[in-house]
Amino acid sequence: MDSKLLNILPMGSAIGANGHLIVGGCDVVELSAKYGTPLYVYEESTIQVMAESFTQEFSKRYSNSRVLYASKAYINPAIAKLSIQLGLGIDIVSGGELAVAASMDFPPEDIFFHGNNKSRIEISEAIDYGVGQFVADSFYEIKLINEIAADRNQIQKVMLRLSPGIDGHTHKKTTTGILDTKFGFSIETGDALKAIKNIQNCENLDLTGIHFHLGSPIFEMEPYDLAIRSVIEFLSPLIKTGFDMRDFSPGGGFAVGYTSEKLPPKISEYAETISRALVESCDKFDIPYPRLLVEPGRSIVARAGVALYTVGAIKEIPGLRKYVSVDGGMGDNIRPALYDSKYEVIVANKLNDNDKESVRVVGKYCETGDILAPKVDLPICSSGDVIAIPVSGAYGMSMSSNYNLNPRPAVVMVSNGKSKIIRRRETYADLMRCDQFE
Ligand SMILES: Cc1ncc(COP(=O)(O)O)c(C=O)c1O
Repeated sequence: MDSKLLNILPMGSAIGANGHLIVGGCDVVELSAKYGTPLYVYEESTIQVMAESFTQEFSKRYSNSRVLYASKAYINPAIAKLSIQLGLGIDIVSGGELAVAASMDFPPEDIFFHGNNKSRIEISEAIDYGVGQFVADSFYEIKLINEIAADRNQIQKVMLRLSPGIDGHTHKKTTTGILDTKFGFSIETGDALKAIKNIQNCENLDLTGIHFHLGSPIFEMEPYDLAIRSVIEFLSPLIKTGFDMRDFSPGGGFAVGYTSEKLPPKISEYAETISRALVESCDKFDIPYPRLLVEPGRSIVARAGVALYTVGAIKEIPGLRKYVSVDGGMGDNIRPALYDSKYEVIVANKLNDNDKESVRVVGKYCETGDILAPKVDLPICSSGDVIAIPVSGAYGMSMSSNYNLNPRPAVVMVSNGKSKIIRRRETYADLMRCDQFE
């Protein structure tokens, strides 16, 4: 195996003597036989190392900091439990994510509820669970949270999401800090100032802090630096005249290496840039240092996850291309179709084969755009081979669908040579469980 591949596989991955890929001490070819494919395999220590690195790198530089796991990257009860054990708070964006966190008794004060259009029901459920903070995203929502908190005769803590007007230079579908976005209150239009005053006038809301999120994945430091400095500059007169900003969050969006050709900056670089920009800005305007919250999602779980598929049909168009079809695709990983995301592909049972050919790896869904990797060099594939796609742990299963009525894959956690199912494969009965028929 190309040693560069080890940088994008879960930590501790290796090649077995038989040329099979080993993840978490388990032969993935055996895992695919035991649990079936498509299969998502998460290696536990990679998640732990990433979470601990975020906590350490930030707290080393800014002691009053807290890491919140952005659960949209992937959450289920096992991952929620692991997040609690790792001392992470959690960022949720729906009643569903709240329900999963609550199923593991996630400490309510560690839950931050984001999203640009939370419903009355979601807000009510979250207040009843006691969620620590809402990150308010619209005038409509400020009014709604205030009303619901008033009904319950309580004061609800809220942060405010700003859009700082800074481009994170990521895909146009995942940029969120610019003016033309559905997220947050723009500083430029005056809405941010209006929203702060608005919340301060709400009897049942306590404005504890400010949040922004520039998009994802962000490979550069400059957008964080510029955004923090300009947001603190905007806030400083308000802080000096009574706004008690206890929390400050520059969001998540920290990049991961999907291919060994484009590795991400180190966590320490993000931590250094963010901490320094915050400290220097607070010093410049002589305002107290707030608690720093960061919200990594992708960077906690992406590298821990490997998607496994079985090769089925192979079609060659002479002089043009060879198509290798696998038994999953856009239903369990929509990212290539949605964002043109690039992945590397491994034939997990042929790691010692050196003869390679260029192929297109496609899924089984009825869409021409169901392409997992448009052009990759692979050992000569045969039906029955096991394909592994590294760095599949984030926004794969969490964005998965039942398109073409394919059951969603099973998810397995591996560690020290042991594997356990953390989500069973869906059945056909699962596909019909909401349907009503005579
Ligand atoms: C508000 C907020 N915080 C954090 C994240 C996590 O981003 P990532 O998974 O890239 O770290 C997102 C992603 O959409 C987000 O919207």
